[in-house]
Amino acid sequence: MKKKEIIDLGERGKYSLKNKINNLTGKEWIKFTKSWFIHRPPRRNGGEILHPAKFPETLVEDFIKFFTKENDWVFEPFMGTGSTLIAAGNSNRNCVGIELQKNYFKTSVIRVKERKYKKKVIPLNGDSGKLRSLLSENGIKNKFDYTITSPPYWNQLERNNLRQKVRDELGLDTKYSSAKNDLGNIKNYEDFIEEQAKIFDQVYDVTKNLGYLTIITNNVYFKGRLFPLAFDTAKSLTQRGEKSWVLKDEKIWLQDDKPLLALGVNNAWVGNRHHQYCLIFRKEVND
Ligand SMILES: C[S@@+](CC[C@H](N)C(=O)[O-])C[C@H]1O[C@@H](n2cnc3c(N)ncnc32)[C@H](O)[C@@H]1O
Repeated sequence: MKKKEIIDLGERGKYSLKNKINNLTGKEWIKFTKSWFIHRPPRRNGGEILHPAKFPETLVEDFIKFFTKENDWVFEPFMGTGSTLIAAGNSNRNCVGIELQKNYFKTSVIRVKERKYKKKVIPLNGDSGKLRSLLSENGIKNKFDYTITSPPYWNQLERNNLRQKVRDELGLDTKYSSAKNDLGNIKNYEDFIEEQAKIFDQVYDVTKNLGYLTIITNNVYFKGRLFPLAFDTAKSLTQRGEKSWVLKDEKIWLQDDKPLLALGVNNAWVGNRHHQYCLIFRKEVND
């Protein structure tokens, strides 16, 4: 008799045992493929923020649940205070994260410990510019199924603008660190694009063939012009010789709950940027 290939999960829809990528039903799969989304995370517990550019764990969870199955390995080279680790642990995936700044790293260690995950959820302190050696020194030999991350948006945190004033008033950092190897401290835009790409060359090395990568980033406005950081990130990673990622798509995160600031009023065009890009790449090596 032929083995059953479809499992009916009721309200969730039907799950195919032939599904190569995730544990989602067809209905859930299709829902995620829309090119934009609005995310309404549950309110954070007070006292946990401490990072100026934290993304919601529930948003990362949606991506992890699409691009991996339970027990898979997720990687995060710009961990911050550990949102990706929490999202992976909450969805029964293993995860390794790297963060340069000691304070953010320490916060991630506390957050992970508190949750007592059954899977391996490992925060590391160090420079992702040396991620291959850092992983191997820490005994992590396996390759990853999926990476989701948000690198510094070039010099965005350092700029003296209205959004920075708001961060300052909230007691959030307006600079990640003064470390030379902090990607956010690279002054020249082209140098930033190249150094960022070099880190993703190493992510390529530690990713399984056909594994996906999602980068959450944005274009940035600086000194009266737009620097197409999201677009240049997309382009640069696809032009790395044998380490070229294949760009698959973009998903646009619409932030319709941010206050409109009075930018450039009565003077010149300055937009209120209320969206971010989630760039989706895949490693595809032909035998
Ligand atoms: C946009 S934030 C990521 C925030 C994170 N997604 C979260 O939700 O907490 C970028 C992070 O990259 C870190 N970083 C910058 N350069 C780094 C490097 N060379 N290696 C590792 N981390 C780095 C910064 O300290 C910062 O915490």
